[in-house]
Amino acid sequence: MSRAGFAGPGGPGRGDSSDMVDGFGRRIEYLRISVTDKCNLRCVYCMPLEGLDWLKRDDLLSYEEIVEVVRVMAPMGLKRVRFTGGEPLVRRDLARLVGMVAEVPGIEDLSLSTNAVLLADEADALEAAGLNRVNVSLDSLRPDRVDAIARRPGSHEKIMRGLQAAEDAGFAPLKINVVLIGGRNDDEIPDFAAITRERPWHIRFIEVMPTTANLDLSRENYVSCAEALRRVRALGELEPVEGPTGNGPATYYRFPGAPGTIGVITPMSHNFCDRCNRMRLTADGQLRPCLFGDLQTDLRTPLRAGESLVPHIRETLRVKPERHHLVQGADVGSGGLVALSQTGG
Ligand code: 5AD
Ligand code: SF4
Repeated sequence: MSRAGFAGPGGPGRGDSSDMVDGFGRRIEYLRISVTDKCNLRCVYCMPLEGLDWLKRDDLLSYEEIVEVVRVMAPMGLKRVRFTGGEPLVRRDLARLVGMVAEVPGIEDLSLSTNAVLLADEADALEAAGLNRVNVSLDSLRPDRVDAIARRPGSHEKIMRGLQAAEDAGFAPLKINVVLIGGRNDDEIPDFAAITRERPWHIRFIEVMPTTANLDLSRENYVSCAEALRRVRALGELEPVEGPTGNGPATYYRFPGAPGTIGVITPMSHNFCDRCNRMRLTADGQLRPCLFGDLQTDLRTPLRAGESLVPHIRETLRVKPERHHLVQGADVGSGGLVALSQTGG
């Protein structure tokens, strides 16, 4: 375990139970795996236009190394895996990794977080490899705005083809992530909500989280989910619902009888850390107990040295913080994170 760096192998770390339970009694059964820090978009709240200081190829875990981490964690209670980035589909042949992880005994649910730009060409192969579902980022319903927020012309058309391919491939439930940006998409909150009356889509509004790359935007264009719900309720009554499978930090509602739901993810206004069930593996093999802060454990070094990962995983669980300490409008980003794409969001 280290703060920004590897501090040497941990102790033997034998637990009484084989399960991954942290110091606050939270059972960890979900791992988000970032397969690359690169992305083919430059969303205004995420990445600087010039990109980031990308990891070098040798720094990335190979697919074989990633599967080894999953193989060690599965008997410790890992059940669900999500592939993230950056944009996971920019890494070559992601379906091969999906197939390898799908074969690990104990892994029940495989999902992908994607901007969908490359999904149309990959959806069938991913489905065949064992992927169950996808979350797609879509911050506007208007082509010009999608392209402007993503800062890549032509994105909207590709994303729409990707969404269609996801539906055709049978990925379900389909979740759509909408990061709220005042002045750029908040007037579309009712339009997004209305879609859930027509389609079985799960629209999730997300409060923007501050990172070093977005400090001005996250301070000045912040819109809370309470505000989003207020505007949704102007369309009609909402009832609270359980939400689709893969329930994470979102709280869900629905218009009575609607096929889809409306979810809110409130990292800023309401802390949901007490329900946290996850850890993150960065593309370069750092195991992070929390999205925020600077705690991480180097798994790559022991992996490449052929040493056991178990003590390192136990140590990461032991130090998993009770909650994050993000403050809306603060002038420091999320524990020094330049962008969420560095840890898989
Ligand atoms: N705040 C909130 N959400 C973010 N995402 C990326 N960066 C931020 C941020 N700073 C979202 C993406 C994607 C999800 C994985 O995280 O839009 O939907
Ligand atoms: Fe890429 Fe996702 Fe960041 Fe947008 S939010 S730049 S799609 S990693």
